Amino acid sequence: MGGLHARTIAREIRGAEVVALADVDLERAREVGDSLGVGTVFDDAFELIAAPSVEAVLVASSAGTHEELVLAALDVGKPVLCEKPLATTAEGSRRVVEAEAALGRRLVQVGFMRRFDAAYLELEGLLRDGAVGAPLLVHCAHRNPSVPDGVTSAVALTESVVHEADVTRWLLGEEIAAVTVLAPRPTRHAPPGVRDPQLVVFETEGGVLVDVESFLRARYGYDVRCEVVGEEGTVALAEPALVRLRRDGRASLPFAPGLRRWTQAYRDEVQAWVDTLAAGAVAGATAWDGYAAAAVMDAAVESLAAGRRTEVVLRREGRQPVKEVRS
Ligand SMILES: NC(=O)c1ccc[n+]([C@@H]2O[C@H](COP(=O)([O-])OP(=O)(O)OC[C@H]3O[C@@H](n4cnc5c(N)ncnc54)[C@H](O)[C@@H]3O)[C@@H](O)[C@H]2O)c1
Repeated sequence: MGGLHARTIAREIRGAEVVALADVDLERAREVGDSLGVGTVFDDAFELIAAPSVEAVLVASSAGTHEELVLAALDVGKPVLCEKPLATTAEGSRRVVEAEAALGRRLVQVGFMRRFDAAYLELEGLLRDGAVGAPLLVHCAHRNPSVPDGVTSAVALTESVVHEADVTRWLLGEEIAAVTVLAPRPTRHAPPGVRDPQLVVFETEGGVLVDVESFLRARYGYDVRCEVVGEEGTVALAEPALVRLRRDGRASLPFAPGLRRWTQAYRDEVQAWVDTLAAGAVAGATAWDGYAAAAVMDAAVESLAAGRRTEVVLRREGRQPVKEVRS
């Protein structure tokens, strides 16, 4: 993700340039730097954050490092776009919310890029215009062809289903109050002990039920679905394909390979970040959104372990309304 964002900024984003890169694996940073003509590379991200030539920071390192790197950027008053998750726990995300609040300025955007995806934006606009009446149910699916064996049942929640937690809050404009994680017998493609697929049910404060199928070893393709059922109709993301392939006696809709599904959304997310950070605003998900999604995932991990419905615990001080900023 770091390489992808660096290339996007260098080649396609107006108003920003890549001046330095960091990775604990220095070779990896150097490789990206060489391809972009960026000679300043660090194996210590804190040095990059402190460098005078760096005006803003994009954090796309492993999830466990996000909290300390975002806090370091806040310490020196630099805006930061942090890939999801903001931190691996709600407590860690809460520390970021508090550090930002203490500064009295919005400096943190969280990389929930679906808020910038054209299809999700259209769906959200239709909901907002009342096209299907009041929402009652949301059906989501998040399927990958395969993932590394290290992706455990809990990581599937904190790194993958976390997107649906954010989408739910954003689309419905309300918080998630409770989570239940259920799992059928696992696919034979899952390593021992890993529950895949999982079925996650969110209950929102307003009484909407959201079911999320997370199936990370689904084999056939990268497939993200979302359908909102309202009092007057339903609205869903259409098939992701832009083309229909006819061949060998069949017509088919090919899936974009992996994260290519989001190429334009990543671009628009980063452009919106660059455009708004000078004004001290945040275009997409805020630190509060990152915290709220992490709190939902804490409850999901607990539900998975305990095998029961778990309420989401949100500390409301410093709360920002869910629908405050629109891109
Ligand atoms: N928004 C999305 O669609 C999306 C998609 C994929 C990944 N992500 C997120 O992006 C992040 C990175 O994912 P990835 O797939 O690129 O992982 P990755 O493992 O391929 O890359 C992570 C990189 O971070 C480096 N790193 C680890 N600790 C570091 C530190 N302290 N300082 C500097 N560099 C460090 C590693 O050496 C590695 O090169 C994760 O948080 C992941 O959840 C988001």
